[in-house]
Amino acid sequence: MRQLWLTEQTPDDARLPTEIDSASAGFVHEASLTDTQRQLVTLLPPADVLETLQTVEGRFQVVMLDPWYNKGVGGVREDYLDWLTHVIDLSARLAPHVFVWGFPEIIARLLDRLPPPLSLVAWLTWYYKNCPSVIRGWRSAQYTCLHLAKPEATLYPEHFLNEAQLEKQRQGKLRYMPGPPSVIEAPLNIGFVGRSEQTGHPSQKPEKVLEPLYRMTTKAGDTVLDPMCGAGTSGVVCARLGVRSVLCDVSEQYSAIVERRLGIVRRPESDRPKSWLSRLD
Ligand SMILES: C[S@@+](CC[C@H](N)C(=O)[O-])C[C@H]1O[C@@H](n2cnc3c(N)ncnc32)[C@H](O)[C@@H]1O
Repeated sequence: MRQLWLTEQTPDDARLPTEIDSASAGFVHEASLTDTQRQLVTLLPPADVLETLQTVEGRFQVVMLDPWYNKGVGGVREDYLDWLTHVIDLSARLAPHVFVWGFPEIIARLLDRLPPPLSLVAWLTWYYKNCPSVIRGWRSAQYTCLHLAKPEATLYPEHFLNEAQLEKQRQGKLRYMPGPPSVIEAPLNIGFVGRSEQTGHPSQKPEKVLEPLYRMTTKAGDTVLDPMCGAGTSGVVCARLGVRSVLCDVSEQYSAIVERRLGIVRRPESDRPKSWLSRLD
């Protein structure tokens, strides 16, 4: 038996089901993490992103914002840009780095309304060749991620140096610090591609796509917040980098996927802190 699944594409694409094998639907591969790595991940009980941002406690280096994109899966809301700007503003109170994902034509409109003191560090593009869309015309092959940061935010381009470059750096002979490309090329996890990562979540990011974002903005021991964590890709990637993560998603179904994928259990509802937002104003 095969299951039909809608990918999050343009409205035209969204009418066209992409087939995935029932073998991967409903079955979640457990990520290969050690017990020590698992302990770096905290899963909060399901909650709206605004509630999480207003109640979570901790010192974060990064807030990862990967919401539904206001077309396709997740539906459309009229106030999307206002809502997202508010979410970004709250995130900036928690961390020096904020990443925001979406379709380029929607994300572009955020550039004129970035809440200070955030500014644009980079317009990142995830480029995937294997989009299954069959629309007439241009086939979707990219998502955008804005890297926003406060002036004092630290970047770690040295985390991308290869052995030869590291040796030159040790000898004081590295003449400039090369950064990674702002276009991240990695296929969609679909069909047989990325099978060991697939969870059935309809818009899960490949681990390879999130990894450079965290490599650039964190070091081991830092903490990341992903309040719309979907299938928990941030948790997997951060744990492998030795970075702590706090995850939450509004969906009970996706929270259960995170538990199975990461081999963890969510924190009890009674652990949820009371709102402290008023203390920030
Ligand atoms: C694009 S997916 C995130 C995928 C994730 N980055 C991954 O790699 O698995 C968007 C997620 O945001 C969640 N979401 C949407 N609206 C939300 C809200 N208001 N509060 C919290 N989570 C929300 C959805 O349930 C969905 O899992």
